[in-house]
Amino acid sequence: MAEQQPAFEDELKLNSVVGQLQNKPPLVTPWEIENLRSQLVDAAAGNRFLLQGGDCAERFSECRPDIIANRLKVLLQMSLVLVYGLRLPVTRVGRFAGQYAKPRSSDVEESNGQVLPSYRGDIVNEPEFGRHARRPAPERMIQAYEHSAMTLNYIRALGEGGFADLHHPEYWNLGFVRHESLRQEYQQIVDAILEALHFMEAVSTNPIGDVDRVSFYTSHEALLLPYEESFTRRALKDAPTYNLSTHFPWIGKRTSHVDGAHVEYARGIRNPLGLKIGPGTTTDGLISLLERLNPDNEAGRITLITRFGANQIADGLAPLLAHVEREGRLVLWACDPMHGNTETLSNGIKTRRFDNIKSELEQAFDLHADHGTILGGVHLELTGENVTECIGGARGLEEEDLHRAYQSQVDPRLNGEQALELAFAIVRKRRAMLSK
Ligand code: PEP
Ligand code: CO
Repeated sequence: MAEQQPAFEDELKLNSVVGQLQNKPPLVTPWEIENLRSQLVDAAAGNRFLLQGGDCAERFSECRPDIIANRLKVLLQMSLVLVYGLRLPVTRVGRFAGQYAKPRSSDVEESNGQVLPSYRGDIVNEPEFGRHARRPAPERMIQAYEHSAMTLNYIRALGEGGFADLHHPEYWNLGFVRHESLRQEYQQIVDAILEALHFMEAVSTNPIGDVDRVSFYTSHEALLLPYEESFTRRALKDAPTYNLSTHFPWIGKRTSHVDGAHVEYARGIRNPLGLKIGPGTTTDGLISLLERLNPDNEAGRITLITRFGANQIADGLAPLLAHVEREGRLVLWACDPMHGNTETLSNGIKTRRFDNIKSELEQAFDLHADHGTILGGVHLELTGENVTECIGGARGLEEEDLHRAYQSQVDPRLNGEQALELAFAIVRKRRAMLSK
């Protein structure tokens, strides 16, 4: 039995939806996937950095031009900060154009004596607590495909040159940074980036967006198996099989059992795979997963996305780094400082503290340095919108502020300012390490 699957009541309907999806055009192509794979090889070797980020869960209702563009802008700004600060090319991967399915800790939710299926993301049901809204509806998979296609279409169009306004200073307004010394330091970085952008514009006849055709790859958790299987295809008879609904699927923490259906599914596709690991992941367990998912130990195949939490990373990550290194397993290490740092406040609101997120990332850099391994990327939950979901950051959001613009139905995201601040924090950390 596959874990974390909704209990669809109407099997005929489910089969009919799968049949329809199997005949839809794919969202991505094998050659794009192979390009990403080779970039991940570079990141694992320390010659590139992976920036992966986006919503915890996309919503159909948020498939809107402003929301999509703002999210891309934040990712692009962050990547410019990282390119400048790390002196490395950055690969941008969004948690978007398909991030619609969520694992849940319980199959059901109870309220006022009524027990209903849990909300499992827009691809399955609706968050409102009602019998109709919560019924898993197979036809939502078609809507998920359509919303993914619309999102990706706009992302591809914007990537062709819609970001020419990045060089305007007002775009980099750092008014949220209250601390004077930090503000000055950030301003220096921004000035240097703007100067580089102006220089590139001066020597190129194209607007900046075209200089490096701003490309974004897509990723989502490969959770809802009937959907993923519908896009699992091979172009020619003897060609490799790919999941063509996304460039970069990942296996979530709750479904990463070596004998489980999700690992079995992922084994059969050639896409690069993300694998979430954290508290409870044992050294032996991890090696068996790597053997199962990457029997030939190919570079670029596996990205280990570690998500321990600021309090647990030191004890949890060190043995895994040592063991994977000792066994000679090739992986790209990325840090997800979000999912181990979620907490529920006394009023029931789920949040994350910016300081814990930053601390987990900084500790990850140090632990990798201590072990001679390379932290080649980050995995974040963020939005370009001005939400108030995570506590802290330069603007000093507090518990009392969270109600103002809390929008997530699932995990709390960094807002645009907090996300940019985190990119600066990475650069500061790297500089401090290098100057030691
Ligand atoms: C997620 O990335 O939204 C998620 C559920 O993560 P994890 O599987 O690491 O808990
Ligand atoms: Co999440």
